[in-house]
Parts: sequence; C-alpha cells; structure tokens
Amino acid sequence: DPVLFVTSELADFVKVGGLGDVSAALPRALLNHYDMRVLMPAYREVLESIWPVHVIGHLPGLADIPACDLGRIELPEGLTVYVLLCPELYERPGSPYLDEQGREWEDNAIRFGRLSLAAAQMAMESSGERFEDQGWHPDLLHLHDWQTGLAAGYLRWNNDDTPCVYTIHNLAYQGLYGPEYLSRLGVPESAFTPEGLEFYDRLSFMKAGIIYSDHITTVSETYAREITTPAFGCGLEGLLSDCAGQKRLSGIANGIDDSWDPQTDAYLACAFATNDWAGKRANTDHVRRMFRLAVSHGPLFAVVSRLVHQKGLDLTIAAAESIVRAGGQLVVIGCGEPAIENALRNLEARFPGAIGVHIGFSEREARCIFAGSDFLLMPSRFEPCGLSQMYAQRFGSLPIAHRTGGLADTIEDGVTGFLFDELSQQDFQKAIDRAFRIFGCTELFYAMRRAAMAIHYQWRLSVTPYRRLYHQLMVPAGAATH
Ligand code: ADP
Ligand code: GLC
Repeated sequence: DPVLFVTSELADFVKVGGLGDVSAALPRALLNHYDMRVLMPAYREVLESIWPVHVIGHLPGLADIPACDLGRIELPEGLTVYVLLCPELYERPGSPYLDEQGREWEDNAIRFGRLSLAAAQMAMESSGERFEDQGWHPDLLHLHDWQTGLAAGYLRWNNDDTPCVYTIHNLAYQGLYGPEYLSRLGVPESAFTPEGLEFYDRLSFMKAGIIYSDHITTVSETYAREITTPAFGCGLEGLLSDCAGQKRLSGIANGIDDSWDPQTDAYLACAFATNDWAGKRANTDHVRRMFRLAVSHGPLFAVVSRLVHQKGLDLTIAAAESIVRAGGQLVVIGCGEPAIENALRNLEARFPGAIGVHIGFSEREARCIFAGSDFLLMPSRFEPCGLSQMYAQRFGSLPIAHRTGGLADTIEDGVTGFLFDELSQQDFQKAIDRAFRIFGCTELFYAMRRAAMAIHYQWRLSVTPYRRLYHQLMVPAGAATH
C-alpha cells in the first residue's frame, strides 16, 4: 500500500536534529510492508547532492503559496523521495528553519504551507486531476511536526478523507502565525476557531495537525502521557487529553539504524566490540587529541546536542567546574542559541586542556565522541524521545539524564546509565557524583558498559505498531464497523 511520508528534514540530505534521522530510517524500515515514499522541500543540499532529480509534475499554488514543480529522486535501498522544486522558498544558505544569523526565515509560514499543501495535493482525489506517478498515488499521509500539520487541514477543507497520521516530535515548536496568514495560506475563515486551528488569536500549524488528522503519535510512551499535562502540554494539554481519551493519541518509540555500530563504524579512530576496552580507549585518546585535552586517566564526559533551552545546557555549564575539579574532562559538540554557544566558549577558555568545545555540526565528530566518551550528559527539560542517549549506549558511553520522556523509557538507572528525577542542579550533580564513583569501581563500570552496549533499540521494534496503525486507518470504514 502506498504511503507518503512528509517531512522537513531527511538525514540523507539535511539534518538539524533527530527528525532527520527518523525520516531517513523509518520509511526504509517500513519499505518491506508499504510502498513508502518521502516528500520534502528541495533545499540547496538536495539540489547539490549527487542524486539526479527528475521533474515529474507541477503543483498549482494557492493564495500566497507559489506554484512549483515536483521532482523525484531515487535513493539507495529503494527509497523514492519527491522534492518540491521551489527555489524562491528553499534554495538558500542556512538551515531548513533559520538563516545564517540564526533567525527564523521570515517566510516560514509560506515555506511550510507550501510543503503541507503539496502533500494534500498529491493525496487529493477531488482536485480535478488525480496525482499519479507511474501508477503510484498515496492512500495515507504520515505527517511530521508542525511543518506539515496544515496538510491534514487542506485535505479536510476539500472534503477529502485520505487518512492522516500526525507524529509529534516536539510539541514546543508549533508554527504560530498571525491571523493575516489565514488568507495568505488559503485557510478558510471558518477554521479559525478554538475548535479549529486557532490558538489564542493565532493560526497554529501544530493544532491543525492534531485536529484534522485521524491519529496522533509521539515518539515515546512517556512523552505521550506527559503532553496531556500542563507541565509538558505547551497549552495543548486539554486537546491532547481529549485525543488520548478517544484513543487517537499513542506513543511509539524511535529506534536507531544499523549504522550505529561500534564494530563497523568507519568514522571511528578504532572499531571496537564489547569488552574490547583497549579499543574504546583508543577512541577516547583520539577525542582528547581532537579537542586538545591533556592526557588523563579520569572520566571523559560529553555533550552532543542542539544548543537550545530544551537540552538543559545551563545545568551542564554550571556543573562543568565540579567535573574538572574532580578530575574529569568535558567535550562538547553542538550549535544553536548564541548565548549558549558563548557560555560554552567561555568555559573552554577557563579550563584549557580539560574542556573542549566545538561549535558546529559534524556527523563524524559526533560518532567519534559517542565512541570515545565515558558518559553523555543529557539534563533535558523535556525529551520527546532522544536519539543521542541511544547512540551513546550503543557505543559504551553511559548517559546521565533527566528522567523524562524518551530518556525515562530508554535508560535503565544504575544499569545502562544514570537517571535523576528532579530537574535541579543538586540532583544532576548527585547523578554526576554517582558516575564518578562507578568510574572508580572498574568491574562495576565495565558491567554497566556491557549492559548499555547490549541493548539495541532497533527500528524493527517500532515497525509493528506503525503497521498496525496504518492498517487500522486504511481499512475502509465499512469493513471496520461490520
Ligand atoms: P533533537 O532531535 O531534539 O535534537 P535527538 O537526540 O533526537 O534530539 O537527535 C539529535 C540528533 O542530532 C542525534 O543524531 C545527534 O547525534 C545529532 N546532533 C545534534 N547536534 C549535533 C552536532 N552538533 N553535530 C553532529 N550531530 C549532532
Ligand atoms: C525531536 C525531539 C527528540 C526526538 C526527535 C526525533 O527533535 O526533540 O527528542 O528524538 O525529535 O523524534
């Protein structure tokens, strides 16, 4: 059965965070069961890639959303990707969401309105001419995050009942725009109510996804419960509780793909397996050299993260001095909010040889750091799923994390990592102290490493619940009720 997977990031071309990884892995994991195809914008990285783009059609515009061409790319492992060829919206430097100065693109509503509209146009039956690519036409849309939320709305406003699954990777980014965008995006006035996509006088892409989709998923079971509460619901907890009550909300954990394997990862200074702690140590030494740290027998702590409020870097920065005083070292790779970037640079300047910071994004360095570090710091305020802690465990680096969201579901406290309950400096420090103590008890420490490396959150495990969900939604309504 044909399914269109609609996303604003795909790690094959461009990745800002975990959504890029999930978009690259999940459709491939489902390919055995569904004719999965991806739809995304043709960013500059897409056009400059080695993969040729074949133009296969044209999509009309709507209101301020420009018309554009649709291209097709064939990626390895049989994955077909449709790309929106709209240079005036997508062909620019910077990230999918931000310009080079780190400011939101001012036309993001139109850019992701274009993506949402394209998804709806490809599915719509009533649009006069039915979209078909050599006989392929989607029977279900799988939408991801606010950037695609409006797609479900465009379908319903055109009386189209193509089933939609909407996956929330992060409720904190909602795509909120002033009411003038109703007409700019061709959204009917009648939808601008609290029961529709209005959120406190603004138009919410996120709410559109939630209201108009048939089923909402998020990326861990704990986060699925958390977002029905005021502390995590970002103002949508009431709506999301209703969805949960109607069995329209569920949590399906992310997995990690097979490339995350310390025995085969070509980026590593030295491939290694469980119990080959000399091999792991070679990676640690390599990371120390990468960051110009002193030779040391103390523990190496690491951060691989987007530098945003969510990730609790203020707690990590406040704990850094105590880590160094206790004989530890810290390496950080990340980019994001300038204030956090600067605070980290200052830290590096204060503790040369003990703290190393790379501001930037590098897949290679991230993998080397997972392989070389002893502990990964992740005091996230909230964490829908989190992939970094899974990668770290796989590479024998024990995560020290806040017991929230996917972190609570994927780390076993005292076995594969360390969890702390309250997001306070004190509790985080206690968890770090525990890590130091375990590091000092070599046998215990190695036992934890073995346990961490043994768990494998494969996508295979998530495929079954997604299949069940797709199946349930694609069965014709009549068949389901009789
Ligand atoms: P989020 O999606 O909230 O950023 P996740 O843990 O789900 O968090 O995914 C983050 C992904 O991005 C991981 O694959 C992580 O390794 C990667 N990542 C984050 N920052 C960097 C960076 N500066 N360089 C390389 N990879 C990074
Ligand atoms: C989001 C979340 C992260 C999750 C990722 C992929 O960016 O912040 O927790 O792992 O999406 O689902």
